Parts: sequence; structure tokens; C-alpha cells
Amino acid sequence: MKNLLNKKILLIICGGISAYKCLEIIRGLKKNNSQVKTILTKNAKEFVTPLSISSLSQEKVYEDMFGAENQSEMDHISLSRWADLILVAPATANTISKLSSGSADDLASTVVLASNKEVYLVPAMNVRMWEHPSTKENINILKNYGYKIIGPEIGDMACGEFGKGKMTEPNEIIKEIVSYFRNKEKNKKYKALVTAGPTHEYIDPVRFITNKSSGKQGYEIAKSFRDNGFETTLISGQTNLEPVTGVNFIKVSTAEEMYNETINNLPADVAIFSAAVSDYKVKNYENEKIKKKGNLNLNLTKNIDILSNISKHNSLRPKLTIGFAAETNDLVENSLKKLEEKNCDWIVANDVSDSSIGFYSEDNEVSIFYKNNTRETLKKMSKSLIAKELVNRVINKLN
Ligand code: CTP
Repeated sequence: MKNLLNKKILLIICGGISAYKCLEIIRGLKKNNSQVKTILTKNAKEFVTPLSISSLSQEKVYEDMFGAENQSEMDHISLSRWADLILVAPATANTISKLSSGSADDLASTVVLASNKEVYLVPAMNVRMWEHPSTKENINILKNYGYKIIGPEIGDMACGEFGKGKMTEPNEIIKEIVSYFRNKEKNKKYKALVTAGPTHEYIDPVRFITNKSSGKQGYEIAKSFRDNGFETTLISGQTNLEPVTGVNFIKVSTAEEMYNETINNLPADVAIFSAAVSDYKVKNYENEKIKKKGNLNLNLTKNIDILSNISKHNSLRPKLTIGFAAETNDLVENSLKKLEEKNCDWIVANDVSDSSIGFYSEDNEVSIFYKNNTRETLKKMSKSLIAKELVNRVINKLN
């Protein structure tokens, strides 16, 4: 079986009774041709031995963060970067709590904190521990960070109790990982284009008209396309965000530049227009700084509507064209109007009158209006998770 050929999996084994199942996980991963490195937490060593693990993985087992030999060979950053995917199994209540609070007091937690890869957690614990509000809260936090959770399952537990908390069986975990990489491979044939951030429409060399927008939601969408294997272009207005790596990243200022770059980078299979494009620009740009005097009247003219132009374009319209709608009032009515008038397949609408979501917030809540008259709401969650949910829906639609 070559399902995981050339894939590098970092397995973090924590101290729980089901740690012994990790031997089966390693065997399964190796059978699928992946390379497996492992980190053993201090408590995990009470349940499995480094020797049994290294015999199966045929790799050195990493244990102590401050161990001299670990430092010289591979540090926490190199280990995080080496991996294509990090798998934490069993993810104990303690590990889950540590990861949700960003703790970094051992090699395992430090590697996860430093990771820029997909993280899968496989929880295993007593049913009461799993159902405790603090564990539930921690799991929600981790889901919001975009971590994927496998299980736990319902069944008899090692402690003699029955309920939810049993670790998912190794073959199911392997299936999940294989399917993650398979989907990523499948999406490589797709091209995605995303616009994000505000445009700047210059009045003179030092002043411009703009819209309130951090660009964060669009950047997260582009990251999610990239992480799902899409060939991705992100066309961004001026933001304070770090450029997204692994995508074709293009920075622009004005709506006209954004439009030109959009045209240059089409065709695409899907385009999401999340940019806050200024609806107006000045009719006469002043080459020199305008000096302060009495009242100043700006003569504004309508800007190009990028989305409308593309969505009505005969040859360049992506199969799936998705617009955003930022509304302070009458969200449903205005969104449906934009869906129709801008010839979109979907409109993703935010209520920007609520400051806890939208603009400069880390969270968002959106309603998606589909062309077939259906709609759904993605309740308040991180912008990164909204992006993942949105991209999952795009993948389902394209496939
Ligand atoms: N949009 C665009 N070009 C413009 C204006 C908007 O591509 N000149 C896109 C946005 O990226 C978004 C959608 O159109 O996907 C709706 O943008 P929004 O600002 O909500 O609405 P407007 O079209 O500007 O209309 P209004 O300001 O009247 O709400």
C-alpha cells in the first residue's frame, strides 16, 4: 500500500492507557509507506517503551526537550517543519488542556505550538473527564484553532466504566489520515482566486479613500485553499497581515489594480471576492499634496465593480463565483439582492454592525445565501474556522 508514500507523520504519544495502540498506528502508517517520527511525553513512557516504538518506526524517538542529543539533531522547530501532519494520540485531558492554553513546557507541546501543519488530536480519557465542561471548552478552543479531532468513541473503558472517551481504533485513524492526503491530492487540479483587504483610492500623494477591513477573513480563505491542495492566488489590498506563503500572493492598492490582477490571474475554478473594494474614487487625482484651505469638495466617481464584471464575463467567469456582503442592516434582503444583481453562485454575508464579529475581530459569523434559494448560518467562530467551513463547501461543490 502506497497511500502515504513520501508523507511525513509526526506522532506524539501521550501518557494514557491506550498509548499501547500507538504501536498499531505506527505499523499502519509504515504499511502505507509513510515516514514516522515520534515524540514520547514523560508520562507516555510509563505505558510504552522507546525501544518498542523505535523498532517499529525505524526512527529515533524524541523525548526530552533539553536532552543534548535531541538539540544537536533536531529541535522543536525542525521537527514541526519536517512533518506534513502531526498526530497526537492518545490526546489526554491534560495534553488537551495544555494545547488549548498554548503551554510549551515540554517537547510535545512546544512542537505543536510551533507547528504550521495540520494537527490531528485523538482524545482518550474517562467518560467524566471527557464530559467535564473544562475539557469541552478546551476542545472547542482547539477546534477553533483549526485542529482536527478524531473520536472519541463510546465503549467499555480500561477503568471499568462505560461511555464516551475510548480512543478511536488505529485503522480508523489511518483511514482518516489517508483520506486527508487523498483529498489534498485531488484538489491539486483546481485553481482558486481570492481577493481580500481594503483598496486605497488616492486623492493626492498622501491621502486616500478606503474601507474598514483587516483582510483577515480573505487571508484565512486563501490559506485554507492552499492547505487543501488548491493552486491559489491571493490578491490583497494594503493590510498589516503577513503575506500568505505557498500561494501566488499579489499586493495592490487601488480597485483598478485589483481588477487588472484578477483578470491576469483568471481563469480559475473558484473565486471568492472578500475584498472591501472602495465604491468610489476621485475624479481628478491631484499630483501634489492638497493644501489646507476652506471647505474642500471631492468630486467622486464610481469605481469598477470587480465581482460584477467577472461574474458577468462570458469566458472568464469561474464555475463557482462567490461574493461577500458587508451589511449593517437588512442583511437578508441586501444579500439576496447582491446574489442576483452580481450574478453570484453564493453570497457570504456578515453583519458588520456587531463589533465582536467582522472587521478587526478574530471571529466572524456569516450567513451563506445560495443561488438555489437555500441559506445557512455559520455561527460565531474564528475566521480561520469559517474559512475551513467555506472551503469544505467549495470542495463538495466542485467534486
Ligand atoms: N465588490 C467588488 N468591487 C466593488 C465593490 C464590491 O468586487 N467595487 C465585491 C466585494 O468584494 C464583495 C461584493 O462585491 O464580494 C459586495 O461588496 P459590498 O461592499 O458588500 O457591497 P457593494 O457592492 O459595495 O454595495 P453596497 O456598498 O451598496 O452595499
